[in-house]
Amino acid sequence: MFIKSLSTVALGLALLPALSMASDGGTLKQGEKLYKSACIACHSTGAANAPKLGNKKAWEPIIARGMDEMMSVATHGKGAMPARGGTKADDATLRAAVEYMVSRVR
Ligand code: HEC
Repeated sequence: MFIKSLSTVALGLALLPALSMASDGGTLKQGEKLYKSACIACHSTGAANAPKLGNKKAWEPIIARGMDEMMSVATHGKGAMPARGGTKADDATLRAAVEYMVSRVR
């Protein structure tokens, strides 16, 4: 009982930043900035089979796998996708860039 309510609180705390991030234009702006300085090179053209920005068909199956998987690929790279898109962006900014790309699909 105690453990259960504790984990509910922990979950609430874990969700808080995610929620405030979604409503905080500043963070998405940061993501857009990183996208435009780095990710755009491949993701605007679909170079090397990169899922193209705004291409619903390309992004739907990726989004369906979830944010954790997208962040894992964005952080460590996969195929022609370089780790962190070849940048030194921190996790929060990298995540914001991924969220920016996801936001452009919907
Ligand atoms: C050198 C080209 C290149 C750059 C620069 C690049 N990407 Fe990618 N990205 C790719 C390619 C290619 C894929 C497809 C990888 C695959 O599935 O084999 C990909 C896939 C992805 C995916 C989908 C991950 C998944 O779960 O399948 C995300 C998210 C992503 N990139 C984010 C970013 C972000 C954020 C940046 C900038 C910080 C970035 N990329 C910069 C080439 C690039």
